[in-house]
Amino acid sequence: MIRLGVLASGGGTNLQALLDACAARSVDAEVALVISNVSGAGALARAERAGVPSRLLPSRGVERATYDAQLVEALRAARVDLVCLAGYMRLLSPVFLDAFGPAAGTRGCPRVMNIHPGLLPAFPGLKAQAQCLEYGARFAGCTVHFVDQGVDTGPIVAQAVVPVLPGDDDATLAARILAEEHRLYPRAVGWFAAGRLSVEGRRVRVEGAGAPQRGISNPTD
Ligand code: GAR
Repeated sequence: MIRLGVLASGGGTNLQALLDACAARSVDAEVALVISNVSGAGALARAERAGVPSRLLPSRGVERATYDAQLVEALRAARVDLVCLAGYMRLLSPVFLDAFGPAAGTRGCPRVMNIHPGLLPAFPGLKAQAQCLEYGARFAGCTVHFVDQGVDTGPIVAQAVVPVLPGDDDATLAARILAEEHRLYPRAVGWFAAGRLSVEGRRVRVEGAGAPQRGISNPTD
């Protein structure tokens, strides 16, 4: 069973999806530590409710490399195998990414994953759902990817697609995407936990996954 560290700045519904999947044993992992940079973040309350260790580590006014070194120390102390960004609204510095790069046994996979509410490489960065609506795209979705030093540019693990409907606003589209995020993220983390992921260049291989269909990149568990 691998140990997850989850970084979250917001309400924490993706954290909840990971907590639920671990509790249900559909993912062979446990959440060892939740860290938020935002006081009062819903994610911290969710961790507490689940009986999982959590920490508030305020980031305001702290230089990025200094802050990231504190994160690394806390995650290492918790013996975390994989860091999951779940609505974590800060970029990570090389201090962090070097500490959680590929390791023995991860088959080239970095040890930091993110969920993004857009179909990368379209609409990276903030407010991906609003960017998508504004652009007039017909499909939206979410992407789980490994994290590198760019903004949402790391190798893609999995994607799910939803339609953009005629009456959509930012909130309705974001809610439709979020429902897919909650399905996709635990599956991707489960693949990592089971040692089924490997990375060659930009391409991520999911061992035993079926061909893409019905708007999901790797349909078979
Ligand atoms: C999710 O939609 C996630 O994809 C997004 O923030 C939301 C967090 O919701 N992340 C980003 O935009 C990262 N750049 P949650 O706190 O309920 O999981």
